[in-house]
Amino acid sequence: MTDVLLSELSDVGRDPAGGVTRFAWATAELELREWFAERAAGLGLDVETDGNGNLWAWWGASLPGTAFVVGSHLDSVRSGGDFDGPLGVASAFAAVESLTASGWMPSRPIAVVAFADEEGGRFGLACLGSRLLTGAVEPARALSLTDDDGTTLAEAMTAAGHDPRRVGHDAERLARIGAFVELHIEQGRMPVADGARGLAGAGRPIGVAREIWPHGRWRIDLTGVPDHSGTTALADRVDPVLAMAHGIVEVRRAAEDLGILGTVGRVRVLPGAVNAIAASASLWIDARGEDPRRVRELVAQVERSLGIESALESWTDVTRFDAALTADVTAAVGGEVPSLPSGAGHDAGVLSLAGVPTAMLFVRNPTGVSHSPEEHAEGSDAETGVAALTAVVRRMAG
Ligand code: GLV
Ligand code: MN
Ligand code: MN
Repeated sequence: MTDVLLSELSDVGRDPAGGVTRFAWATAELELREWFAERAAGLGLDVETDGNGNLWAWWGASLPGTAFVVGSHLDSVRSGGDFDGPLGVASAFAAVESLTASGWMPSRPIAVVAFADEEGGRFGLACLGSRLLTGAVEPARALSLTDDDGTTLAEAMTAAGHDPRRVGHDAERLARIGAFVELHIEQGRMPVADGARGLAGAGRPIGVAREIWPHGRWRIDLTGVPDHSGTTALADRVDPVLAMAHGIVEVRRAAEDLGILGTVGRVRVLPGAVNAIAASASLWIDARGEDPRRVRELVAQVERSLGIESALESWTDVTRFDAALTADVTAAVGGEVPSLPSGAGHDAGVLSLAGVPTAMLFVRNPTGVSHSPEEHAEGSDAETGVAALTAVVRRMAG
């Protein structure tokens, strides 16, 4: 079922450079929003967009009790894979479809959600829709974030027909979420309890999440003296690109030293002329690991080495999922599924930090490669994921 749903999306945002680029509030993502509404309507669900741009499809909204929510996100990183996000949304729709087809009726409201701007690919701050909903980020800060073209989030929302004045903490909606289960493509080859690496190593099609490692994003801005490349003696230069290169190497050195993950996947050099010494250079550090002190230490080491302070763009502490809900999910899928940590951030983590009982299901990714066109799940594993999610909904909302 998910292969059919995902195939409906496969052309959307297809990037000539490879994979898909589906940035928040841009054309491709708006098309995915329409797809969400159509799919939901086809299942007889009531669709609404909340003030933060998150999409909700309700089944039995008027039933008593808090909602059991399933879903994920539809946006992607630049040149990302087809599964990170959409697999969770498609699996949620597929689960609802199989439950309605079987004549099953929920005893509490069920919602399928697609959170807005999970990747932060356009405005730099991940999980924006869920962070705004839970009050983890101030509306004024979020709305003034800019993309590479200088467009603010407020402007992008307005252009897409969404009123930015609606953005912000939504305690009432949050209180309606009784529990949230996010199904997601497995990312990386994380240690599984028995010592195997990843679900492929364990020979299992699905697993549950144990925790999300603490992670953050920092920006370092370096200033230079712009001048002509052909007329400025090397000794006379103040070249911020050299400092940036040093910083990039330092991130890697410190990560190895501390035994954590440190990445520079984005830099900006201005004005970016081949024949000019740059006026400024910025690098972004993404650092993650089991131990939050080491993650912060990496940034401190890079700052010391460059003699400059970084700007913190986001920080998420270690996130543990709800033990009782995870036990319920495990029981629903027949017990004894591998549990693994996540090095990737998720809306489920944001909700969990806001006090919502939350759990995650992972579907085997044979290579573990993610945020890349190589990201993959076999159709049969995706179907095992849908069956698992269906069983979870049946158990939790029956
Ligand atoms: C989102 O996928 C992140 O972990 O950056
Ligand atoms: Mn992702
Ligand atoms: Mn994701």
